[in-house]
Amino acid sequence: MSDEILALPASLQESAAVEPEMPAPSRLRDHPDWYYLLREFYELYRFLPSGGSEKIRGHQRAVRERISALMQTNAPLRVGACDAKPVTAYLRRALDEGRAEKHAAVIRAIDAVRSGLNWQYGYDKVPRGLSQKFAYAEIAGPNAPIQSEAVILGLVLFAPGCTYPTHAHDGITESYVCLSGAVSENHQGVYAPGSLIFNPPGQYHRITVSDREPSLLAYAWMGAREKLAHQKMVFSRAPRKRV
Ligand SMILES: [Fe+2]
Repeated sequence: MSDEILALPASLQESAAVEPEMPAPSRLRDHPDWYYLLREFYELYRFLPSGGSEKIRGHQRAVRERISALMQTNAPLRVGACDAKPVTAYLRRALDEGRAEKHAAVIRAIDAVRSGLNWQYGYDKVPRGLSQKFAYAEIAGPNAPIQSEAVILGLVLFAPGCTYPTHAHDGITESYVCLSGAVSENHQGVYAPGSLIFNPPGQYHRITVSDREPSLLAYAWMGAREKLAHQKMVFSRAPRKRV
């Protein structure tokens, strides 16, 4: 091979002499599958009925505003470690069941990033039995693939018959959207696909899941930045009501 072929053009010789530049951080638009998933979350929060509740409508609007900002600023994106948990053996069934629903586009978008989801427990101590039947994966948030300090978005997967123990979120407003299967919260209603459950900050809630099918929920957490950054997942006994 001649030297002529090996020789770099003068412009490249100069840059070869300096330190190699660090690659630019990856951004949302570099990963269309994650971009479209975020857009489908936006659409989900746009088309979900609010049942006449101003509070819920306001929450849906606030979630959309945060998502919109992430898309407009082309948020940083980092797909790190991806972990499975025993319950993720039910993911395929949960997705398949969700495909027949109105929000099939969300299901397709989740399927597209499936291999990049990091399923976690999030609790220091996972109650016995729950480790086989529950896990969540964040989509956007301070520690999620799509970097966000203003909203946390994610997915929760429950195996059939799971009971998700009583818990509350300090300073965080939470909504769960049922994508497939059916769940009940605090024995106060049954939420089938397309339903939204709204939990204001500090509200204790316990979820039970149909014993026939797994359930996949999307969720959004809204709150002050420091609350979102330092949220701690703990199960707690609801205080006894004073009569
Ligand atoms: Fe919750």
